[in-house]
Amino acid sequence: MSAISKATAGNESHLSNVWFNVTPLEVIHGSGCWVTSVGGEEYLDFAAGIAVNSTGHAHPAVAAAIADQAKRFIHAQVNVFRHDLLEPLATKLAELAPGRIDTFFFANSGAEITEAAVKLAKQATKRPHIIVFGGSFHGRTHMTMAMTTSKTGYRAGYAPLPSGVFVAPFPDPLANDQAAEVAKALQGLDHILKSLTSPEETAAMILEPVLGEGGYMQAPAAFIAGLAQRCRQHGILFIADEVQSGFGRTGKMFAVDHYGFEPDIICMAKGIASGFPFSALGTRRELDDKWPKGSHGGTYGGNAMGCAAALATIDILTAPGFMDNVNARGEQLRHGLRELQAEYSTITQVRGPGLMVGTEFDDPARVSAIIKHCLEEGHLILMNAGTYGKCVRWMPPLVVNEREIDLALAAFGAALKATA
Ligand SMILES: Cc1ncc(COP(=O)(O)O)c(C=O)c1O
Repeated sequence: MSAISKATAGNESHLSNVWFNVTPLEVIHGSGCWVTSVGGEEYLDFAAGIAVNSTGHAHPAVAAAIADQAKRFIHAQVNVFRHDLLEPLATKLAELAPGRIDTFFFANSGAEITEAAVKLAKQATKRPHIIVFGGSFHGRTHMTMAMTTSKTGYRAGYAPLPSGVFVAPFPDPLANDQAAEVAKALQGLDHILKSLTSPEETAAMILEPVLGEGGYMQAPAAFIAGLAQRCRQHGILFIADEVQSGFGRTGKMFAVDHYGFEPDIICMAKGIASGFPFSALGTRRELDDKWPKGSHGGTYGGNAMGCAAALATIDILTAPGFMDNVNARGEQLRHGLRELQAEYSTITQVRGPGLMVGTEFDDPARVSAIIKHCLEEGHLILMNAGTYGKCVRWMPPLVVNEREIDLALAAFGAALKATA
C-alpha cells in the first residue's frame, strides 16, 4: 500500500494501540493548570502529565530556556564532549539533594534512571539482588517491570522477567494500628533476608517514599528508619525512587527530606524539567567512583535542552514562597476533601503530603464514575491509582492557585453527589 493510500484508507488511527486513554481529549494548548481542547473547551488539568508539569503547562521561563537553548545547540552527546550546562545543573542538584549526595548521572526517563540505579548498586556492591516493596512502580523496561508490583497489567504477557528481585511488604495506611503494621512489614523484610536473598547477596533496596502508582501512600517514618537500620547493618544500599515524589511534589524538594533521611542513591525525573524528558541519578562521589567508566550511558542522557529546562524549573521551584504555595494548596485541598469525606462515607481515607494527595474509596467503580463525571461535567482531569484502582490521586501543577483548588473541589463534590 502506498503512503498516500495508507493515509487516506479511512478514519483509523495510525497510532499504536498500546496506549490507554485517561480522557478522549485532543489538546492544542496548555497554560498553567489549564489545557484547551481542539473544540476550544478549557479543562483544569489535575493530572499534570502524571505529576510532571511541576511549573504548569508552558511556563514562560521554561519555554524561553528551551527555545534559547535550541538556537545554541539541541544535542551535544556527553561522551563526545561536555556542554556548558552539565556542571551548572549538577552543582544545583548537589545543593538541593539530601545530605552528601554530590554526583549526578543523567538520562531521559524514570525507568531509565531506576534501572541505572540498580546497575550502579550492583557494580558498587558486587552483589546481584534487589529488594522492592509491594505496590511499587519503577518503570516499564524488563528490569523495571520485574521491580514493579503495583498491578499485574504492567507485567502480564512479558515473562520471563529478570530474576533477582524480591518483594517485601509496604505498610498498609488503612491499618488501624500503624505501629503494628510497620512492625509486621519489617518482619516480612527480615524474613526475606533470611529465606530468599541473604544480605551478602543483596545490593540494594529501592523504595518510593510515597508510593505513586501504588496509590499515594506515604511510608511511615518508623518504616523508613527500620529499612535504613537494616541497610546500614548489612551494607545494603538504599535507593530512593523520587521520580514521582521529587521536585516539590510533597511540599519539600524531596520526599526523603520529610524524614531527614539520606539515601545512598536518589532517582529523579518527572517534575525535574517541567515536562521535557529528563532524569537524574544522584549519589555520593565515592559510590559513583565504583561505577566502571563506560559500563553505562546513553545517547541522549544530559541532553542540552533538558538541562536548560531543568535549570529553569529549579529557578522557579526555589524562588521564595514557591514551596509555601505547594503546602498551603495541599492543606486547602486536604481540608476540602476531608469535609467531603465527612459527608460521603464512600471516601475511606484522605492522605498524602503537599500536592501528592490521595482519596481512597471503598469501591473502584465509584472512582471511575467520579473521574468520568469530573471530566464531563466539571471539566476537571483526574486520574486513579492503586492496585485496585480505589484511589483518586491529586497531582496538580505545583503553581495551582486557591481558586483552582476551589474549582476542583466543587467539581469533585458535584461528582460525589451525582454518583451517590
Ligand atoms: C516512582 C516512579 N518511578 C519510575 C517511573 C517510571 O518513569 P517513566 O514513565 O518516565 O519511565 C514512574 C512513572 O510513573 C514512577 O512514578
